[in-house]
Parts: sequence; structure tokens; C-alpha cells
Amino acid sequence: MKKVLALTLALCLTLAMAACGGGGTSGGNTGGGNTGTNSGDSDGGQSSGSGQKTVGIAMPTQDLERWNRDGAYLDEQFQAAGYKTVVTYSNNEVDQQVNDIQNMLAQGVDLLLIAAVDGNALNTVLDDAGADGIPVIAYDRLIMNDNVSYYVSFDNYTVGTLQGTYVKETLDLDNAAGPFNIEFTGGDPADNNAPFFFNGAMDVLKPYIDNGKLNVVSGQTDFNVVGTEQWQTDAALDRAQNVLGSYYADGTQLDAWVCSNDSTALGVAQAITSDYTGSNTVIITGQDGDVANLRNIKDGIQSMTVYKAVNNEVLATLDLAKAILDGSSIDESLIASAGWDFDCDYDTQSYETTPGHTCPSFLLVPDVVTADNLEEKLVTPGYYTVGSDGYLQAANG
Ligand code: BGC
Repeated sequence: MKKVLALTLALCLTLAMAACGGGGTSGGNTGGGNTGTNSGDSDGGQSSGSGQKTVGIAMPTQDLERWNRDGAYLDEQFQAAGYKTVVTYSNNEVDQQVNDIQNMLAQGVDLLLIAAVDGNALNTVLDDAGADGIPVIAYDRLIMNDNVSYYVSFDNYTVGTLQGTYVKETLDLDNAAGPFNIEFTGGDPADNNAPFFFNGAMDVLKPYIDNGKLNVVSGQTDFNVVGTEQWQTDAALDRAQNVLGSYYADGTQLDAWVCSNDSTALGVAQAITSDYTGSNTVIITGQDGDVANLRNIKDGIQSMTVYKAVNNEVLATLDLAKAILDGSSIDESLIASAGWDFDCDYDTQSYETTPGHTCPSFLLVPDVVTADNLEEKLVTPGYYTVGSDGYLQAANG
């Protein structure tokens, strides 16, 4: 059954990507980590006298919806700006990603843009990039290597505080009598973002755990215990079923489940639907605005998602990459000169690639999406359209 669901989702994704024509599998590199070079046709991105520049785009996997969106849109936008691109997806496998990046270096890319499978596992290949003088942008996920030139992401800690604050306000923790029962599901411990999300949510909610207003019935509050390897829906589902079976089967009411993102929220929601015996609606948080989760939000199965506009993250990355490749000096002024119609902070303090070595970061601002503002936040700006079935679908899907 789980396999059927996963296959159906994979098929939907494949169809969506094929329909949008955004080039999610450019150069014949569908998930297998093969590399291929695509050529943009406009005349931007030229190096002086030495032809078109090439950007290597290394994405972690096609198994999770968001990286298909990121990979396709990065490819499309860099090509439209006149760069050649090499796009790879590494099946969430570290060795594969190392190999993919090595191939990109061998092909002579001028810039690397990497969303890491494991931020701690790319040292050798990034040292090679450094030795070759190839700039590296850590895309969305920071890489623990000082050869990373810049980091572009959303404010990851704020993603977590938005999730925690949503729970705090929905349960009215400052006023309601409580106590309420809550559980947590975190992200992949190999992803540098995951503890930021978890800590953001926990920092908002811990005072209420400490004063007894919130009760984590399983007692599982440690990031390493609640984490989900590779952000897999099935892993989140399995753990949620175990928690429900062990701690809630006697009829104990569950009020909220903080999930760090949508792929894990999907598993938790499935476990609650199948294994939770209570009749109340459990608050479930998420992140990304994946199509299946937007469905669940509309149906009242998931309560919210923290939306991070991938299109904006891509545009910020493109302008940063252009500035790097043009040899411009880069600082906060890029934000004003780029003229983006979205907010972005330049942060030189928060993210360290090694202890004491901070990485200049461009951090975009995440937003809360619920059933009440789905259309205003996602349809009006053009990120999604409403399908004939009333559910949201990718705008160009
Ligand atoms: C991203 C999230 C995503 C997760 C799993 C994180 O690094 O920031 O948006 O949900 O990876 O793909």
C-alpha cells in the first residue's frame, strides 16, 4: 500500500515535471546522477572572449517534490540568462553527489550550485573546487566547508518559530487551561537546516513544556530521536505509528504534532488517519507547500505549511551567481540593486561552515499558509493554480 502511494506520487511528479517543461531532468540526468549539459540561447552569461559560462546545479533527489521544482526552475532561469547548465539529482546518495560534482568539475563548470545530500560529506570535492578556483553557492542547505562562497536559503530558524507559534496560538497556550498533548517529528540529521527548523519550533514551545501546559507524552523531545532520515515520508509514518501505538492507543488525546516539513507531515497525517483513535482534529505543521500537503490542508487533515517561494530563492541565486561570475564585489547592496520584489536579508553572522568561519548568507523570508489564506498566498501571486477538482496544482503543471 505504501509502495503504491509512493509510486503514485512519483508518477504524479514525473507527469507534473513533464507537463511544465521546465527541464527538471535536463541533459538526460533523471535521478541517476548522470550529468548533461544544456545550452541557453540568449546572449547573457558570456565570459569575456571565452564563450558561454557553465553552471553546475547539484540537487539532492527527485524523490521529494521540492527539489524537482528547484532543479527545474534553476535550470530554466540560468539558461534563460544565457548560461549553460549541468543539472544532477543524486538519489539522496552522498557518493553519487560527490561523483556528480566531480564530473561537473571535470566538465569545466564555472560555478557550482549545490543543495547537499549531506552537508558534512562534501569536503574532498569542495576542496577540489577551491583548488580550481570554482566559486560555490550552497543552495538552501549549508555545506560544512570553507570553500562555500555564499549561502542562499530561507531563514531556517524562522521556519521553525512560525511552526511553533502556529501551535502556540491555535491552542491559545497563554490562556487556555490545557494541558495539551504534543509530539515532534524533525528532519534529516544530515541536513544542516533540520536542527534550525527543530530548534526554532522548540524554542517557542519549550516554555510551555516546562510549565506543564504542553505534555510530550512519548517523552521524545531530542532532535536525534525525532529526526527523520532523508526526510522520508515512510520513515515519519513508521515512527508516528509506533508513537501512537505505544502512547495513545489507550485513548489519550493528541492535540498537536509539529512536523518540520511536508514530506514528514504526510507520513504523520497518514498515521493519524489510520492509527489514532481520538476524534479531535490534530494540529499538524509542515513546510514547503507540496501539492499533496496543500490537498490535506484544504481537506483539514494538515493545519499549515510554511511556504518558501522556490521561484524567489532561484532568482536570488541567479542574481548572486551573475554577480560572482561578473567579478562584482558582493555585499548587502546586491539586494537593493537586484530590485527583487521579495524580502531578503544579508546575514554574515548566523551560518558557520567551520567553527569561527561564517558564510555570507542571503536569507529569504518564509510565510505561513493555512486553509484560510491558500489562495491569497499561493494562487494570487501565481505560484499555483486551482485545478478543476478545486485543489491547488503547480502553476505550470
Ligand atoms: C529544505 C526543506 C525541505 C527539506 C526536505 C530542507 O533542506 O529546506 O524545504 O522540506 O530539505 O527536502
